[in-house]
Amino acid sequence: MFKIAHISDIHLPASKQGELRGVYPYSRLEKIIQQIDPKNYQAIFFTGDIAQGGNLNAYQLFCDAMKKIEIPCYFIGGNHDDEVMMKNVLSTHQNFHFEKIINIDGWTFIFIDSVKKGSIEGYVSEEEINFLKQLLKTIKPKQQIAIVVHHHLFPVGVPAVDKYPITNAKEVWKVIRAYDQIKLIVYGHVHESYSGRKEHVSLESAPSTSFQFNHKFEDHHDRTLIGFKEYTFDADGYLAATHWLAVH
Ligand SMILES: [Fe+2]
Repeated sequence: MFKIAHISDIHLPASKQGELRGVYPYSRLEKIIQQIDPKNYQAIFFTGDIAQGGNLNAYQLFCDAMKKIEIPCYFIGGNHDDEVMMKNVLSTHQNFHFEKIINIDGWTFIFIDSVKKGSIEGYVSEEEINFLKQLLKTIKPKQQIAIVVHHHLFPVGVPAVDKYPITNAKEVWKVIRAYDQIKLIVYGHVHESYSGRKEHVSLESAPSTSFQFNHKFEDHHDRTLIGFKEYTFDADGYLAATHWLAVH
């Protein structure tokens, strides 16, 4: 049995005092990190949008906030990130990784890039889909697989975020649904904790560490809750839990 913490959509501005939609993302990230006891987790997954504007200072601030965390951290980019800058800054830290595939105790985690440069919505490139297809051809019948991606494949019921899903989700889903070994898709981008199901695959999103988009109204967001998700994996499957922190 092992646990993974899942953190997403931090949206750091260029300074610690930087404000976004009435909140201070850096101090909110610090509050979340204080909730994470590294000895309870095998790793932390970050599913994108670390920086609000892909700014160099924002990635350096992220490294500052994370300096006491010594367990492995795995990253994929979000639509707000500058992937090259993010990798340049973060890869100077020995426990920060950008692997496409990791294996832990019978589970394989596949990190898929869904960022379409210059767009809010997602798109999984032909190259990325081919990578996934080739990889899935090699998996064993009893292997358990989770896909880790920034954008959502399926609507979550909130118009403000459902405008910007993976636009070629049908094509991606066609590949995924052919494999019973794929148990789970984890994602960020939607700024809320969702648990869902599509055929044999579970869907889990992490809340944002800054603010949530959980309202049916355009441009309405919730500044009072921040959080992260936690998964406990074993040979039978996984359990998900959301850790919420009330803030003002
Ligand atoms: Fe996003």
